[in-house]
Amino acid sequence: MSLRHSPVLLALLAAFSLPASANDAVQAACGRCHGADGVAASAGTPHLNGQHAGYLVESMDAFRAKKRPTAVPEHQAGLKPDDLKAAVELYAGSKSARPKQDTNAEKVARGEAIYGDRCASCHLDNGRDFEQEAPFLAGQDLAYINAQNGLFVSGKRKFAPRQDDAYKGLSAADLEAVSHFFASQDQFAAKGSEGKKKKKAR
Ligand code: HEC
Ligand code: HEC
Repeated sequence: MSLRHSPVLLALLAAFSLPASANDAVQAACGRCHGADGVAASAGTPHLNGQHAGYLVESMDAFRAKKRPTAVPEHQAGLKPDDLKAAVELYAGSKSARPKQDTNAEKVARGEAIYGDRCASCHLDNGRDFEQEAPFLAGQDLAYINAQNGLFVSGKRKFAPRQDDAYKGLSAADLEAVSHFFASQDQFAAKGSEGKKKKKAR
């Protein structure tokens, strides 16, 4: 893992006590779409539960700075510092289960191969670990992953450094297959437990 050791982030990760009103503010501004615990209720909205803190903070900064497209006014308005801390603590720490999604087995298999060649160096362990500040993607909402890939490819969302190389030459069908692969993954499976995971009743 390469968590950036910025003082801001370390301060965020450090234990802190927040007023209950901070959590109320988060629920009021964000809970409607991201759920009470970061598990989104509707397709196309990303799950935030279990996402790493650094990425949550960076995403909110990018929305506010208009470096990343969004049509959600709450993202552009942002949150007060205490409320942002509360949001990051709540979502990053949430172990709630994400809903199991309908994925296509052929696409998952095709996506797994592409993932191994193109994406695994940053989205480690099938999307359950990361390098280069990449977000966790295991178990992420399928429609959301597809939509973000569309934004990257069309240039509306900026690629991270070297992420664009990984997408070079991939067709829309290839990218859709990788989305199915990520969406099919168990978010909290133990490291290297893929074999066991397949046998486990779910
Ligand atoms: C109206 C629904 C809605 C509300 C309210 C909302 N979000 Fe979102 N959120 C979305 C959608 C949809 C996306 C996908 C990107 C986009 O379209 O803006 C998203 C994306 C995000 C992301 C990026 C996730 C990723 O994996 O890249 C973060 C972080 C986030 N929201 C945090 C928040 C926080 C914090 C609040 C409260 C201040 C909030 N959102 C309020 C719908 C919402
Ligand atoms: C060089 C490292 C790197 C490689 C390789 C890479 N990514 Fe990423 N990826 C990132 C980073 C960093 C971000 C965060 C981008 C940002 O918002 O700054 C990201 C973001 C994403 C997102 C947005 C997720 C979200 O929650 O909004 C998706 C989807 C994604 N990558 C898919 C892929 C796929 C598919 C591949 C392989 C074809 C891939 N990435 C290869 C580093 C990488």
